[in-house]
Amino acid sequence: MSQLSSQDALKAQVAQAALAYVQPHSLIGVGTGSTVNFFIDALAQSAIPVQGAVSSSIASTQRMQALGIPVVDLTDVQSLSVYIDGADEIDSHGYMVKGGGAALTREKIVAAQAKQFVCIVDQSKRVDVMGAFPLPVEVIPMAVPQIIRDFSALGGQAVLRMRDEKPLVTDNGQYILDVHGLKLTEPMALEARISQWPGVVTVGIFAFQKADICLLATPDGVQTLRY
Ligand code: A5P
Repeated sequence: MSQLSSQDALKAQVAQAALAYVQPHSLIGVGTGSTVNFFIDALAQSAIPVQGAVSSSIASTQRMQALGIPVVDLTDVQSLSVYIDGADEIDSHGYMVKGGGAALTREKIVAAQAKQFVCIVDQSKRVDVMGAFPLPVEVIPMAVPQIIRDFSALGGQAVLRMRDEKPLVTDNGQYILDVHGLKLTEPMALEARISQWPGVVTVGIFAFQKADICLLATPDGVQTLRY
């Protein structure tokens, strides 16, 4: 059996802890990323029956379906008991930066339908001021040059995310800019501002859809932070 790296061991631990937030027979929202992959595996192995899971990405949908978790369409449900997802950074208010896996738009939409956002992270994601992780922004391709200039005016360097020497195309058919050099001292104000720019589909600041609870994996166990 392969040995988990210490960071993967923390992700597995926090994924297991998140099962406590899954009410049997409820509808849940499921995020995207390596930490969520551990959660999907833990959910499949648990005896907890869910009515259905709304997925935030094609990757999570495929993983859940392969493991027999019923995936339902967001358009067929009115509300979710909980949304469980990782983050790239989380601050002391429960504000997050997300989108390292390019799924930020669907993540924000699904999170908005949930009664509770449970963020699952290892301790490397907990920061005082967000911004060290480049801020992901999903954009309409024709707006890319203008949005790069707009970020430059804010002091950020926006870089088009590439894959196999071509711009990465999201599940929604759009592009991702990763913005370096911003300090997110006022995340809510900045989220509101960038969201207004023409061509911005979704900015990866989750201040309006912040976490209600953060399960933080540390070598001494999983801490529960409430906001
Ligand atoms: C996906 O688009 C992201 O928002 C993820 O939630 C975030 O990148 C965390 O991913 P990991 O769990 O892989 O670190």
